[in-house]
Amino acid sequence: MSKAMPTDRRNFLKGAGTGAGLATGLGAMPLGASAAMGEGAVQADFGPMNGQALLSRNENPYGPAPSAIKAITENARMGCYYTDRALKRLHAMIAERHEVPIEQVVVGSGSTEILCAISLAWGRDGAILCPDLFWDTTVKYGERQGVTSIRVPLSSDMNVDLAGLEAGLTEEVSLIQICNPNNPTGVLIPASDLRAFAAKVSPKATLLVDEAYNELTDAPDDNTMIDMVRGGADLIVCRTFSKIYGMAGLRVGYAITSEQNAERIRSHMMSFGGNLGGVAAAIGCYNDLAFLDQSRAMVLEGRKMIMDAVKTAGLTALPSQTNFVYVEVPDADAVQAAMKERGISIRGAYGKWTQYSRVSTGKLADVERYAKALPEVISSLNA
Ligand SMILES: Cc1ncc(COP(=O)(O)O)c(C=O)c1O
Repeated sequence: MSKAMPTDRRNFLKGAGTGAGLATGLGAMPLGASAAMGEGAVQADFGPMNGQALLSRNENPYGPAPSAIKAITENARMGCYYTDRALKRLHAMIAERHEVPIEQVVVGSGSTEILCAISLAWGRDGAILCPDLFWDTTVKYGERQGVTSIRVPLSSDMNVDLAGLEAGLTEEVSLIQICNPNNPTGVLIPASDLRAFAAKVSPKATLLVDEAYNELTDAPDDNTMIDMVRGGADLIVCRTFSKIYGMAGLRVGYAITSEQNAERIRSHMMSFGGNLGGVAAAIGCYNDLAFLDQSRAMVLEGRKMIMDAVKTAGLTALPSQTNFVYVEVPDADAVQAAMKERGISIRGAYGKWTQYSRVSTGKLADVERYAKALPEVISSLNA
């Protein structure tokens, strides 16, 4: 005899097919997976679906680091307590690495929580000026709450147009937001150009640089703008444990900014404390340099395999400094559909950019499947 489903759960599952569900990715959940949830989550509910090559979401399957897993395991029993002291320790570790006072560090539930808070806080005072193609999920979140954005087209070579952004900086702008390297293009703005831009614009509006992929660039220390925060510029730099640390599901990210900006961000955040798994993992692996080197090497190997496959298929791609590649194709949605038939998940078109297809590095065996499929997919589309 089946038990009556609690009303809360019924409503939750109903939401899975609606906008609310889609916003959290639940809309894509297969029926079997949702049915299994009532009996307690099973292993099959986490990670890629069976047999799927998951190359669509910029995750890093080489994490979490063993040091992170050890920290979660050793501390999981303390999950009945809030995490205040541990969270403070994580703030202190981040502050030490970036040579700023602890008050200038904000840790959130992924960098998404911090970026959403920034969108709301700065969006109250004016518009957000940003490129027309970047990871704009959190600007869109702000827009749903009444925030205005002003979008500046990319330059013809698919770079963030710094001159265009500077020209668009009017009195009504409170925040300029960019992502460096950019997502989905993977292209890095040269550090010297960005520094000059930051020096010019930050006296007029706060500059937010989302450095989610910084650690995967050729020269992370040169490419970061954190030294300009230390120098007193009105700048916010965001980082995440989701990429090089391979902790996307553990939800930890952080911002480095002035004490005043940090306070303002905190006052707009939705959660308090941190989840124990994420905080423990972040403390466990933050300074695990051996893991970071290894993680980076695997990502770069995957990226090279993709670049080689692109060449073999007679295609070109934008120069990537991230764990994904933006490949020029005849039709991004058609490539995505043909890959899906082969059990390979990649991104379809982003809005009007129908001629670019984004593929992420993942397990090398999965990248290999993509590399093998790409020439046949492209020749079938060209036939
Ligand atoms: C540029 C950029 N910023 C932030 C995020 C979100 O990261 P998090 O998992 O820390 O919320 C992503 C996710 O793909 C991203 O591409």
